[in-house]
Amino acid sequence: MFYKTYFRQFTILLFLIFTVKIYKKQLINMRIKRLLSKENEAIANADVNLDLLNPLIEKYKNKKGNIIPLLQGTQTMFGYIPKAAFEKIANETGLKISDMYGVATFYSQFRLNPVGKHVIKVCHGTACHVQNAGSITDSLKEALKVNDGGTTEDGLFTLESVACLGCCSLAPVMMIGDNTYGKLTSTQSVKVIKEIRLKENN
Ligand code: FES
Repeated sequence: MFYKTYFRQFTILLFLIFTVKIYKKQLINMRIKRLLSKENEAIANADVNLDLLNPLIEKYKNKKGNIIPLLQGTQTMFGYIPKAAFEKIANETGLKISDMYGVATFYSQFRLNPVGKHVIKVCHGTACHVQNAGSITDSLKEALKVNDGGTTEDGLFTLESVACLGCCSLAPVMMIGDNTYGKLTSTQSVKVIKEIRLKENN
């Protein structure tokens, strides 16, 4: 009798563990799908020369804690981490795609989509937020016809809202490449963009 009860409880426990494992796996897959659909999958799958990754993979494939250097190296190479690169790295190192996506989406330094030639970072840290950073982003969204995180059709600009850029005394602040624009107004931010576009078209 005791053994019967014990066996039944043990079976239920095994069933529960198994169910939780499947559920967790489904959750991870759903998260990855959601991430990919949020991005422009067509762009994320744009043709890239994956052979360029070979030396990087060779260097790190047997090293512990290799996910971050592999992702950083890939991004340095392509400017973002293409979906096909995740697959190649997984195939050749044995790393799980879900683990790599987990890291790539946790750290804001990683990108899953190509970016424009000029990345506009509008600070939305506290100091900038209270100085109306929201209206700067809104004006730029309108002028560039993109959403936050989006890239213009001509591939010239990517607009990003970011956390503190470390120069709060200049709030509100925007950065484009290495250039910092402080004490900014919406009108000035749009003017800066127009000037860059003009230079690029000449
Ligand atoms: S809050 Fe914007 S630079 Fe610090």
